[in-house]
Amino acid sequence: MCGIVGYIGEKEAAPILVEGLKKLEYRGYDSAGVAVFKDGEISIRKRKGRLAILDEEVTKNPAKGNIGIGHTRWATHGAPSDINSHPHCNNDCSVTIVHNGIIENYMDLKEDLVAKGYRFLSETDTEVIAHLIDDLYKTDLLTAVQEAAKLLKGSYALGVMSTKDPGKIIAVRKDSPLVVGLGERENFIASDIPAILSHTRRVYLLDDNEIAILTADDVKVLDKYGEEAGKQVFKVDWDAADAEKGGYDYFMHKEIHEQPKALRDTMTSRISAENEDIVLDKIKLGKDELKNINKVYIVACGTAYHAGLIGKYVIEKYARIPVEADIASEFRYRNPIVDENTLLIVVSQSGETADTLAAMRLVRESKGRVMAITNVIGSTISREADDVMYTWAGPEIAVASTKAYTTQLTCMYMIGLHLGLLKETITKDFYNRIRTALLRSPEDIEFVLKQEEKIREFAYNNFKVEDMFFLGRGLDNYVAMEGSLKMKEISYIHSEAYPAGELKHGTIALVEEGTIIIALCTQEEVFEKMMSNIKEVKARGAYILAFAQEKNKAIEKEADQVFYIKDTEDDLASIGTVVYLQLLAYYLSVARGCDVDKPRNLAKSVTVE
Ligand code: F6R
Repeated sequence: MCGIVGYIGEKEAAPILVEGLKKLEYRGYDSAGVAVFKDGEISIRKRKGRLAILDEEVTKNPAKGNIGIGHTRWATHGAPSDINSHPHCNNDCSVTIVHNGIIENYMDLKEDLVAKGYRFLSETDTEVIAHLIDDLYKTDLLTAVQEAAKLLKGSYALGVMSTKDPGKIIAVRKDSPLVVGLGERENFIASDIPAILSHTRRVYLLDDNEIAILTADDVKVLDKYGEEAGKQVFKVDWDAADAEKGGYDYFMHKEIHEQPKALRDTMTSRISAENEDIVLDKIKLGKDELKNINKVYIVACGTAYHAGLIGKYVIEKYARIPVEADIASEFRYRNPIVDENTLLIVVSQSGETADTLAAMRLVRESKGRVMAITNVIGSTISREADDVMYTWAGPEIAVASTKAYTTQLTCMYMIGLHLGLLKETITKDFYNRIRTALLRSPEDIEFVLKQEEKIREFAYNNFKVEDMFFLGRGLDNYVAMEGSLKMKEISYIHSEAYPAGELKHGTIALVEEGTIIIALCTQEEVFEKMMSNIKEVKARGAYILAFAQEKNKAIEKEADQVFYIKDTEDDLASIGTVVYLQLLAYYLSVARGCDVDKPRNLAKSVTVE
């Protein structure tokens, strides 16, 4: 949600800022802007709309200088407009800021500032911070920002410059991500590493309430007490090329195709070369502690929550511990029962999602144990959890999550098997069977990717469809939920996922001649039941697009068209099936002319509630 960058050094700042913002556009793309400092003055360029509009503006009307801050916005307070775009400044433009987050007490602060004579131009919460810093400015910018931070309630990552204290950028964070990049006679700030990766691999990952003072030659980081924070340099070991499109039209398409590799990466370092057993040695939760765990919650948002539902199924089945999967924004406000015998598994690609982070802090305060499944190394969630299992999917840039989801599933299966063996609730035989199937899952995805052309054809023949239903039973129901979310999110086709047996309790009233039903039929135990449910909707004129394991050819009797996944353990059918659904959503989105990687109203990393 919003991306910020900053540069201080010897080069022209504006092109570096715009390049950096391009890498952050996934965080929000309602508007963008830069502010650059030179000769005692700050020049601001900011425009509503995609970054390309700002880029054009900056080319036509350059902002010169070697110090600057930039922002790409996902609107929270105030509609997308030139005026509401960041950077914002105080009335004489001596203080300029970019902000990611939400200031919850901005109305109270605004009232006080208006009473003191400050004039507000925008409808944003952010503008309050610029005036507040100006109001508190006595001696220097650092002290003013420190004083302002004490008064702000909510979340923020801020980049601040002032004409009164030139030659520096002050950066501070609370509940919104921020990194500082360390260069040679130049330094950077950014919401996320890809924005600065072409300049440096050496970064400080700021923690909450830390404040950084950047000059061209130096970076100082202070803790919340104003003491040197003693930061360790974090060395980034992945490549900028990993975050490029690499010949694909869209990041989403590239990321769908990266899944076999991503799953192999997730598993390889956790499989013993000796006997192929799963080794989760980074997870410190041992046999004795596990004995005391009487409740597991899996908490996440969106796609990560859907991975959590499958985790619930798998952990309950393999380890025989009661598991509740919950949406983070609900969990945190429903007073959940948590104590030292509770294990919370949080799932988050970005490791920064505000609600997931809050759920995790709540459980830690109640002495529960937290395990995180996340993709971003050094993210806030990874730093605050007791145990971390990285998904090793590589950077995921498309707003719609694909490879992060399937690697989250892979982690869930590994955790389920690991816990099942520790608790001795599964036999070694069963363990071996599921593990073998899991190790084969990258090939199962490769098989699905080979059917891509047929999915594309279906999408182009049906792109005018306005409604779709995704039906499944058991694990398929959870995969259906993910397929339906992907469909809505990137193609704007209204869709609903329904447990197939529940349909006739109301929703079947919506089925009419030509309604497209995506029927997931990969689970042997309920295969016949699915066949009956398909007959019910077919009798009302629905068109059935079914997905099944190769062994279940009987499906052809009822479905209008069938896509097969390779035969596998039923528990693992989710992986191949969801790749079909990702491709279906992708091609429908392309066929409908949607912006696949940046769907409307969305942002990749939701760092506000
Ligand atoms: C949908 C999607 C979102 C995210 C959700 C959580 O394709 O990507 O639903 O899954 O916003 O984000 P993370 O995993 O970063 O916590």
